[in-house]
Amino acid sequence: MIQTLTITRPDDWHLHLRDGAMLEGILPETARDFGRAIVMPNLVPPVVTAKDAAAYRARIMAAMPAGAGFVPLMTLYLTETTDAEDVAAAHASGLITAVKLYPAGATTNSDSGVANFDRVQGVLERMAEIGLPLCVHGEVTDPSVDIFDREAVFIDRVLDPLRRRVPELRVVMEHITTADGVAYVMAHDERLGATITTHHLIINRNDLLVGGIKPHYYCLPIAKREEHRVALVAAATSGDKRFFLGTDSAPHTDPNKESACGCAGVFSATNTMSCLAHVFENASALDKLEGFTSLHGPAFYGLAPNTDKITLTKHADAQAFPDKIKTGAGDVTVFNPGFPLHWTTTPPTFRS
Ligand code: DOR
Ligand code: ZN
Repeated sequence: MIQTLTITRPDDWHLHLRDGAMLEGILPETARDFGRAIVMPNLVPPVVTAKDAAAYRARIMAAMPAGAGFVPLMTLYLTETTDAEDVAAAHASGLITAVKLYPAGATTNSDSGVANFDRVQGVLERMAEIGLPLCVHGEVTDPSVDIFDREAVFIDRVLDPLRRRVPELRVVMEHITTADGVAYVMAHDERLGATITTHHLIINRNDLLVGGIKPHYYCLPIAKREEHRVALVAAATSGDKRFFLGTDSAPHTDPNKESACGCAGVFSATNTMSCLAHVFENASALDKLEGFTSLHGPAFYGLAPNTDKITLTKHADAQAFPDKIKTGAGDVTVFNPGFPLHWTTTPPTFRS
């Protein structure tokens, strides 16, 4: 029996595309299924100014596979010296879609992030005025806070006070990993949204640690207890418009992952839609997949949904996806969901 599902072409509201040979190698993996993506600015050095974002956008477009209808939505990396005028001009010209807040030291390439939030108050107020969303990596960096508690503590110590200081600011809690994150979003209005990754809907901390450490499941925020994963699936499949897909697909080469001090990041661009179809089908919520991947995100950002469609097909037999993507920077391991994938996608415009 073949089952098909045709939905509005999805977008990825949180993606790492990197630069150079890595960008070239992995961009086709997202451009195949997705119409647009919010592109994270945590390059080395980070994308801080409008000028940096324009140059990065040009490099992405130069790496774009022929025929891809994919549009990168650029972001700026918020620092304590970010100039509100530069941000406002970048927004007015249509160059950027969001600004990204990394607490200093929270994750990969976050050293230039914000330590003193008083220093960014003016930029945040300006963003609220012009309706430019802030994407937030929601983890405290205080070394005394347990890594599994960093998201919940961030909500109390940083996020809630920040939102009280600038109540009109539109905020995306990115890659939420806890029932606490879900509850915080649900307790507020539509100015607050949250992205959820594919992998956090599938793995818990046992998958990461039991029976041997699995470096390709290591990401930040770290996967939590099963009860949190269950809360994330409930939120994603609920149809609530405040929750939408942000894969946080974050490539690192295998030697950088399979190391005594491995990098954080899961690369899921290649099979994300297939994994999500499985998760939503298991939750008897295939009818909610389009909202999560294709409609809620554009609504939050005030953009129209994509006009083209993709078709998902369920096959009786398990379907093969590549284990690794070969790039000029090295091999990148593709997310292994730990179950056979039966769904494939037929994208509208492009296949590599
Ligand atoms: O796991 C992660 N990897 N989390 C992040 O926040 C950053 C990302 C990366 O850039 O590799
Ligand atoms: Zn990320």
